[in-house]
Amino acid sequence: MLTFLGHVDHGKSTLMGRLLCDMKVVDQRSLDKLRKEAETIGKSSFALAWVMDQTAEERSRGVTVDIATSNFETETTRFTILDAPGHRDFIPNMIAGASQADFAVLVIDASINSFESGLKGQTKEHALLVRSMGVQRLVVAVNKMDTISWDQRRFEEISQQMTTFLTTASFQSKSITFIPLAGLTGENVVKKVSNPKASWYTGESLIEALDSSNIAKRNLAGPLRMTINDVFRGGITNPVSISGRIDTGTVQVGDVILCQPAGESAAVKAIEVESEPVDWAVAGQIPTLHLADIDPVHLRSGDIVCDTKNPVKLINSFSCKILAFDHVLPMSVEVFRGRLQAEGKIKRLVATLNKTTGETIKAKPRIVKPGEVARVLVDLSAELPLEPGTRIVLREGGNTVAAGLLEA
Ligand code: GTP
Ligand code: MG
Repeated sequence: MLTFLGHVDHGKSTLMGRLLCDMKVVDQRSLDKLRKEAETIGKSSFALAWVMDQTAEERSRGVTVDIATSNFETETTRFTILDAPGHRDFIPNMIAGASQADFAVLVIDASINSFESGLKGQTKEHALLVRSMGVQRLVVAVNKMDTISWDQRRFEEISQQMTTFLTTASFQSKSITFIPLAGLTGENVVKKVSNPKASWYTGESLIEALDSSNIAKRNLAGPLRMTINDVFRGGITNPVSISGRIDTGTVQVGDVILCQPAGESAAVKAIEVESEPVDWAVAGQIPTLHLADIDPVHLRSGDIVCDTKNPVKLINSFSCKILAFDHVLPMSVEVFRGRLQAEGKIKRLVATLNKTTGETIKAKPRIVKPGEVARVLVDLSAELPLEPGTRIVLREGGNTVAAGLLEA
């Protein structure tokens, strides 16, 4: 599972649409149809983006609102790709997407001024968010190279500035790859670039970089934890179904599962993975589970499905290690765990910590400054199913204040 991130309009949806067309997941006929429709409302440049942006609102506004997923396969790997919105109003949806990702593609518009405005906008915020949610591997797609005539100096300047920023944000430089490309023309996405102006570039194409990305080993042995993305009801053979990503463990037809925070159990009647019926599903997959013996009012997007013998406990306070994006004080915050969210309060600043060693720098600080790492105690107004290792994000008044890992 990988997610595409970056500032609004930098070309994420277009790049993904291009990837799916060139990998033959979307055929030429469907693309031609999208092109026609896009032309009718004067948005012809968005035809490829429409492969991912499927709602009327997204298409008329030309922005992604909610996350969308799709699949494709190379010779070695099966990928699920997730398109996240770049617009700052939709950061909660971006967080829901990023919290499921094994690695990320950060899309940057290389054209004049766009890279710079992205830096002030969501380019940095998205990179910080995925990193603090545990993503270590980053492919940086330096996009729209066609608009700057494949200027090598510009590519190198962007790569250098981003490397400086990303390494201070605790990405390791060996885990970052920069690829110059153009999603709109498809150059260096799946096909190599043949433009003579780009002859200076002899490195990997995007698809090669994705293929050579080492995805962290998945935890199959742990207890079942699956985050619900969607709840479907009203089917004739399957009146209640849920889909979502299995974070750890496995699930089999016949299992009894527990849904949290509702605390209700259900029986797994059938399982599908990518519309094919299967007997079981494992960590990393995104199955649909058809359920029996549960009322769908107990199931919501963001809830957690777990093992009845080893359930996720509900808690109303926790300690977490955060990376501050803004000034952090004892204050009210919204706590996000994927799509799950609750009102909360930062009760106490325990200590600021050394970024790499985790040692205490200062106990009981009055304030945590942007860029600092700290341990804080958080109280919740309602109980949430959270356990150590969970990635959480703290927001306040529409801004991300901090993100990090729950400790206890
Ligand atoms: P949000 O989802 O709203 O954050 O935007 P996005 O990052 O998904 O951008 P989108 O794919 O919707 O593209 C925005 C605009 O940039 C569209 O008009 C695209 O045609 C244009 N665009 C995308 N990629 C390229 C490219 O490689 N070259 C050029 N010239 N334009 C591009
Ligand atoms: Mg988009």
